[in-house]
Amino acid sequence: MAVSKKVFVKTFGCQMNVYDSERIGEVLGRAGYRATGSIEDADMIVLNTCHIREKAAEKVYSDLGRIRQLKARRRQRGKDTLVTVAGCVAQAEGSEIVRRAPVVDLVVGPQSYHRLGDLIERIREQRRPLVETQFPPESKFARLPQRSGLRRASAFLTVQEGCDRFCTFCVVPYTRGAEASRPVADIEAEAHRLVENGARELTLLGQNVNAYCGRGPGGVSFSLAQLIRRLARIEAIERLRYTTSHPDDMRDDLIAAHGEEEKLMPHLHLPFQSGSDRILAAMNRTHGVADYLALIERLRAARPDIALSTDIIVGFPGETEADFAATLALTERVGFAQAYSFKYSPRPGTPASLSADQVAEDEKMRRLARLQGLLGRQQTSFNLASVGRSMPVLFERAGQRAGQIIGRSPYLQAVNAPGPLGHVGEILDVEIIGAGPNSLSGSILQPRRGGHDAQTRAMC
Ligand code: SAH
Ligand code: SF4
Ligand code: F3S
Repeated sequence: MAVSKKVFVKTFGCQMNVYDSERIGEVLGRAGYRATGSIEDADMIVLNTCHIREKAAEKVYSDLGRIRQLKARRRQRGKDTLVTVAGCVAQAEGSEIVRRAPVVDLVVGPQSYHRLGDLIERIREQRRPLVETQFPPESKFARLPQRSGLRRASAFLTVQEGCDRFCTFCVVPYTRGAEASRPVADIEAEAHRLVENGARELTLLGQNVNAYCGRGPGGVSFSLAQLIRRLARIEAIERLRYTTSHPDDMRDDLIAAHGEEEKLMPHLHLPFQSGSDRILAAMNRTHGVADYLALIERLRAARPDIALSTDIIVGFPGETEADFAATLALTERVGFAQAYSFKYSPRPGTPASLSADQVAEDEKMRRLARLQGLLGRQQTSFNLASVGRSMPVLFERAGQRAGQIIGRSPYLQAVNAPGPLGHVGEILDVEIIGAGPNSLSGSILQPRRGGHDAQTRAMC
């Protein structure tokens, strides 16, 4: 019997990379590799990288330094280690990676994962590093193997890739290429497969997911809202989410879906980046502060309890104290359940990195600390408002403490509760009894007779 080799995959960056890492694992499974959690044992190491900020990209090189020593140690034991850099740093830096880190055998961009098996073969034959960062003509998704039997109550499903918006700070349009949407039938087939593997919640992913425009049945174009309504027809799917969205692609039918489609969860991640119209224009965001506020109002009219999260950048070139105060004011006005905030990081090849007007590092740090103070207070008060309520929680895995399981509320809050692992994969009513900045705690209410869980009942 052939001895299978082991692969260790480390994922950096966004949910799309998390999804890609699963697909990489599946392709490598077909090439005879099985996953290991121990890097020392791995015959192949894959770093699935992120290029969004300098820190994210530099982490890869410090990892490669450690991997160089590990590879040498393994060689002494007569073992080979194939080192692969995938993801957005691979796409952005290509052969520069092999030059800086000769330990790397393979550099592969996000559009070529279906070719991994062949690429490994070629490296074995040619015994020299390979760099594969072309955007191939064939569709990656059509050539990837079926989803594996990985059991997961909540699963990611990429429906769209790339971005055409070219915000002046962002590398994504360069690393992920032009916007492309998968056909509805392919997405449906994958959704069915994920459901067979135990998924009850799907999060539809895209770099600019609400720009989704895919080929639907009969060749007509489907919007994201139409796709959501279609997937909602799959009975076993009880929850749908999507991320990440651009405010200007939030169309009427999608806003309406938030009010009408019960399986669409009352949570939306909607980055606004800055509260200053001047900075938004310099960022090429195409929306102003008033547009964002009007959009939030319409969303809240459609779904009054919708929880909002966002992304914000501080210290974009030319940002004055007044611009930053406007960001604080917009944050205050909207009130977010959760947010990611970042210091602006100049990225090679992006227009904003060339601006002479860069904000000093210590000023960026001060602004970030003030903003995060406000966001932390908003997040805590959002969570505290849940105490005393009961809400349906989809339990996903064992909690950190023994005897606890952890899941998500409809509003994407992490909820811990004492309970047996047998409840993982179920949606149960939980009474919320405690709240911290990052999670809730609660107790599971007795599942009622008939075996239906809370959310199914609510819909009947
Ligand atoms: N496609 C998504 C997310 C892109 S990256 C979107 O459009 O919203 C996630 C977040 O990283 C961005 O929303 C932005 O807030 C932040 N980001 C992107 N480039 C950055 C940079 N150069 N410096 C700091 N933060 C950045
Ligand atoms: Fe980047 Fe998002 Fe802007 Fe696209 S819309 S360029 S992914 S920040
Ligand atoms: Fe990073 Fe690429 Fe995602 S740059 S945020 S991994 S799309």
